Amino acid sequence: MNACSHYIHKIDMRLPMLLPGVIQVNDLWKVIENPPNRVEILRGITFSVPRGQFLAIMGASGSGKSTLLGLLAGLDTVTSGRILLDGTDITDLREDDLARMRGRKLGFVFQSYQLVPTLTAEENVLLPAELSGYKGDARRRSRDLLERVGLTQRAHHYPVQLSGGEQQRVALARAFITAPPILMADEPTGNLDSANGQHVLDLLLQLNREEGTTLILVTHDRALSEYADRVLTLHDGQILRDELLIKPDTEAAALSESEASNLS
Ligand SMILES: Nc1ncnc2c1ncn2[C@@H]1O[C@H](COP(=O)(O)OP(=O)(O)OP(=O)(O)O)[C@@H](O)[C@H]1O
Ligand SMILES: [Mg+2]
Repeated sequence: MNACSHYIHKIDMRLPMLLPGVIQVNDLWKVIENPPNRVEILRGITFSVPRGQFLAIMGASGSGKSTLLGLLAGLDTVTSGRILLDGTDITDLREDDLARMRGRKLGFVFQSYQLVPTLTAEENVLLPAELSGYKGDARRRSRDLLERVGLTQRAHHYPVQLSGGEQQRVALARAFITAPPILMADEPTGNLDSANGQHVLDLLLQLNREEGTTLILVTHDRALSEYADRVLTLHDGQILRDELLIKPDTEAAALSESEASNLS
């Protein structure tokens, strides 16, 4: 990479940081009071996610990752603090407004998948499209997504007839069906072998690059987090580290590759 493309790449990495975050979290606390016990799960979390960023959340088991993700998606109530999603404070919203907001903006993949047991794989994938009145060709998109996660042959199977990894891939296809601008996933490759983990990673990266999807992934998977733009590490309910990963800019890298091939 020559000096000029290196310079451009550095500017590219910093520009999104100047824009208001698509998600802004301010002094977030989650405390469970169950007298005489009191558990401080999250203790004053503050950060902002620029639009289109791929953020990996890491940290030891029990550090508060799933709790944080659930709060960001409005699936759980905060004890105190603010969460702005596209400028709207979701900690103030009523349940029906929250549900509408989730339908429009969010795809979510749970650590425990949470497929509807009485629906087939394909019906599970189609469900968010039906609930949110998705305008596109949902059937075509669901077939395409099931193919991309390698489950075309399992489209008409029910969750009990699927392995853990297959259920996880259905849950991913379901999260993508409405092409949400923000996708949150809890351990999306947690139960997958390396080949299927790679398929899922490819799908996530493609969405992030081509559709500009903001990705927030909780993961223990180093291979996955290496592709992230940023890694936030939690420890005992607090942010231990917030690292921006400087990666070769794809356009600059492609440019310098073509420069190299012109020289050879
Ligand atoms: N309802 C609850 N009541 C009391 N403690 C809770 C509750 N929910 C979670 N916790 C505790 O909060 C801490 C954080 O839980 P959380 O599920 O967010 O961890 P995690 O980082 O996602 O862990 P893992 O990597 O194992 O999934 C844990 O110590 C857990 O036991
Ligand atoms: Mg968890």
